[in-house]
Order: sequence, then structure tokens, then C-alpha cells
Amino acid sequence: MREEKRLPVTFEEVRKSEEIKVYIERADQSLRAIGFTEHSFAHVMKCAVTASGLLQKLGYSERECDLVKIAGYMHDIGNVINRCDHAQSGAIMAFRILDKMGMPVEDIALVITAIGNHDEGTAFPVNAVAAALILADKTDVRRTRVRNSDLATFDIHDRVNFAVEESETIFDAEEKTFTLKLRIDTSICAVMDYFEIFLNRMLLCRKAAEFLGLVFKLEINGLVLL
Ligand SMILES: [Fe+2]
Ligand SMILES: [Fe+2]
Repeated sequence: MREEKRLPVTFEEVRKSEEIKVYIERADQSLRAIGFTEHSFAHVMKCAVTASGLLQKLGYSERECDLVKIAGYMHDIGNVINRCDHAQSGAIMAFRILDKMGMPVEDIALVITAIGNHDEGTAFPVNAVAAALILADKTDVRRTRVRNSDLATFDIHDRVNFAVEESETIFDAEEKTFTLKLRIDTSICAVMDYFEIFLNRMLLCRKAAEFLGLVFKLEINGLVLL
């Protein structure tokens, strides 16, 4: 059997990987073809930064902060295979890539657990890294994710994202809250429509926040809805 020396793989190494870049681009191309919102570098980098920032503020180790960044960056590559079950296929792809890069198995386990548990329907905040990724992924709503330029043909997801004029996530250490604060144009999407469409996502965020000892809040146009 081949003797392997495994050393920590950093986020910077992962970000420089041409192989991973290709999968992110191709996965996003497929989603564009089926009419989905942007899932490219803007989305995955936002997830990486939000998730690692949150764990850092909560006092998690540097290693966990770096691993959640890696998970955030790679979490949607499974869409290159199919949108259906992309969390699980992406986790298997990430396993193969990170294993080849020589990442320690404990670290790979953490990253693929988070990736495999990020999509609604099968998502669960099984550990802190998974919980942070869920929160970062589900709160990335913004107008710039909409690619369809024809308002008349907008589907519900286009409308929900396009309606967002301002979006920010706020962590309050004292109150122990993580808030998604939105300003939406109600002529594009009513607050209650918004809430209905996002209910499952928001309930998932609540579960993920609870795992981290936080309360998840949703604030739209100054109204606290959750
Ligand atoms: Fe996803
Ligand atoms: Fe995502």
C-alpha cells in the first residue's frame, strides 16, 4: 500500500485549484441552462466568507473556520452532475478532490458532511460547520443572482431575488442572534409571498442557528417576521 503524508489543505490552495474552478463554472452553466439563479463564484465566495466569519466570531478554531470556507466554496459543485441530489453528489466529488490533494481524513469528513447536508429536503445541521454553511447558503438572496432580464418571464425565484434591494446578515454576540435583514420592493414581491416562499429555508436557518446557540431572525422592511 502507498504511504501517504497528509497535511492540512488551506482554503487558498483550494481556491487556486483549476479543477475546482472548472466544476464551479460548469455546475453554474447547467443551472443557467435550466433557468436557475446565479450559483457561481459570487455565490460560493459569499457563502465561504459568511460561514467562516460566523464561526470565527463564535470562537471556533482556525481549522474549522478554514474548513467551512472550503465547504462553502465547493458546496454547489454537485450541480455539474444534476440539480437533483447535488448536495450528495457534490460531497462525493469533494471527497475525491480533497483526498487527491492529501487533506487529512478528519478534515475531509467535516467538509463532505457539511456539503452533503446543505440542501433543503435533506439538510440538517449535524455539526457546527454544516450549520454555518446552511445559514450562509440560505441567506444569500440578492438581485444580482437573477440572470433573466425579462421581467415578464420571471419565475417565483427570480421575483423573490429581484425584489431584494438590500440584503445583509447581522451577527449579534450579546443578543446571540443571526439576522437576515432585507429591504424588498413590494411592487415586485409582497412581504407575505416572500415569507411563504422562504418559509422552509427560514425554518432550516432557525435549526442551524439553534445548533450554534443562536436565534435566527428574519427582518423584511423593518418587520421582524421570525
Ligand atoms: Fe446547493
Ligand atoms: Fe448554494
